[in-house]
Amino acid sequence: MSARTRTMPRRSCLSVPGSSERFLEKAPSVPADMTFLDLEDSVAPLEKVEARTKVVRAIRDLDWDDRVLCVRINAWDTKWTYGDVIEVVSNAGERLDEVMLPKVQTAAEVVAADLLLSQVEQNAGLPHGHVGIEAQIETTRGLINVEEICAASPRLETVIFGPADFAASMEMPVLTGGVQIPEYPGDHFHYVFSKILMAGRANGLQVIDGPFLKIRELDAFRDFCQRTRVLGYDGKWALHPDQVTVLNELFSPTQEQFDRALAILDAYKEATESERKGAVMFGDEMIDEASRKMALKFVSRGERAGLTRSTA
Ligand code: GLV
Ligand code: MG
Repeated sequence: MSARTRTMPRRSCLSVPGSSERFLEKAPSVPADMTFLDLEDSVAPLEKVEARTKVVRAIRDLDWDDRVLCVRINAWDTKWTYGDVIEVVSNAGERLDEVMLPKVQTAAEVVAADLLLSQVEQNAGLPHGHVGIEAQIETTRGLINVEEICAASPRLETVIFGPADFAASMEMPVLTGGVQIPEYPGDHFHYVFSKILMAGRANGLQVIDGPFLKIRELDAFRDFCQRTRVLGYDGKWALHPDQVTVLNELFSPTQEQFDRALAILDAYKEATESERKGAVMFGDEMIDEASRKMALKFVSRGERAGLTRSTA
């Protein structure tokens, strides 16, 4: 795992096609918490090999500030996976934080990526374990095996739901993945969201929701984001800068929540350290260790959003 990025907030995760120099050049100016340069499905087969060079050049030459920087490689059932890892990781240098492995079906696929990364890191003079892995769950088989997949490697930093490929894998009668299906009485992905979230959290991973493909429908996007945000997901993909703006707002606490979270941490510290109590009253409610853990998440996301404590 990449020690730098494992716990960094990933409210917004921007997808950038690796074959487009224009999009690659623009990407650093879009304030996403995480940006991934794609070699997989947004790149045509005939452009795959050349895109590797473009992606490496973008990582080396552009200023990516402190965001999480990732490259999505091709899945193991293609002919490009090992070449992607060797070419990109050998040449990108230390600034590359992670690779994203799509369509993960078994834990063995994560282990294979981990072993390959270890050799490439060694030959490239990178510290062992420098490159983290993000695993996409987007097939029925991947979902069935998600618990083993999430436990497969210490390099894993996140698990991601891929709604478009998942809908295809389920053979759902839809032509757009990752959006609401009005005919369905409820949330057609609720089980999937919960299963992935539990497997990820049980292994200390961040859990991310994938794309919403109707990129011009920002209100519907905002509405759809709440499904995973409220369950506890850490963030969601963006396919357009306007989606990044919505995500950074939605996945950040309000000033009031941020101040309250800091006040809870102070009260709990005072209670446990000065008064030697595990649970105390905070206003009209009881707080304890669970409250501290919940508050920490609000604080780290609020800090990422640039919030500072209000002065009373
Ligand atoms: C993302 O890769 C998806 O298939 O939804
Ligand atoms: Mg996909």
